[in-house]
Amino acid sequence: MTHRAYVIGKPIGHSLSPVMHNAALTACGLDARYEAVELDGADLETWIASIRDDGATYGFNVTVPHKERILQHLGGIEGDAELCHAVNTVRLDRANGVRLVGTNTDTLGFRQSLAEAADMSLRGQRVVILGAGGAARAITVVALQDGAAEIVLANRHIERARDLLNDLSGLAEDVPIRAVELSADRVRAALATATVVINATSVGMRSRESPLDPDLLPRSGLVVDIVYNPRRTALLEGARRRGAVVVEGLGMLVHQAAAAFEIWTGRPAPVQEMRDAAEYALGNP
Ligand code: ATR
Repeated sequence: MTHRAYVIGKPIGHSLSPVMHNAALTACGLDARYEAVELDGADLETWIASIRDDGATYGFNVTVPHKERILQHLGGIEGDAELCHAVNTVRLDRANGVRLVGTNTDTLGFRQSLAEAADMSLRGQRVVILGAGGAARAITVVALQDGAAEIVLANRHIERARDLLNDLSGLAEDVPIRAVELSADRVRAALATATVVINATSVGMRSRESPLDPDLLPRSGLVVDIVYNPRRTALLEGARRRGAVVVEGLGMLVHQAAAAFEIWTGRPAPVQEMRDAAEYALGNP
């Protein structure tokens, strides 16, 4: 029997998940395929009913716009899904009937990408996170869990950053965390003393825009972008020119997928094959 895994979302055409997962399944010699399914919210329930009892489905990834809506269709959640307020990976637990269990692998993916690219964690770091959406939330969870020395959340709409702060600060009460508006004047001071700056906004995706003037970046330390297309974003190019170590967004993408693969198959993910497939699909290995 050929097993299946899926990614559901809309639009789904740009997703790199199929190439990464199919490369991993092939590399491990598994008789399985990973498919993208474009789905409206109204069709979620019917689609889930169609796969839950087929005996062939490992599970599925969930992307925009279903990451929160999926919660009502699950029998349980685990890992960091609750803290992230979002599920990106669902496994079918067949221990006792069929139960859909959701998790979020973005926190693992981010942590792993930092470890791989820079051999470090956020422990003890003075971290500035740009953004207050789903990606920024996952990264803030990691910064709190891993014991950053200080966290500054900078967002265009400061209210969203404040909401995120209020929601998560209880996770590590000893970590100072504050919200500022993402504007040159408001972030200048925080950036001057930051040791890690992370772009978790969507600015720079398929464009040459930067979420802030790279001249404001610290001259040393680490600058991380979660944007992976292009791989060398305008922000990262500016950071490199200033002398910072840069971490590209592709690592987080690959490692969140690798974590899902391991949950479904119980095997170590062939990370290099997944990365090669993503790089090839992006056209800039
Ligand atoms: P995701 O779940 O991928 O993080 P999201 O929830 O849509 O996506 O969040 C996108 C983030 O990019 C937000 O922080 C958004 O800022 P606002 O909350 O102020 O909208 C940020 N963002 C998007 N376009 C931006 C722009 N042109 N300038 C600055 N920030 C931008």
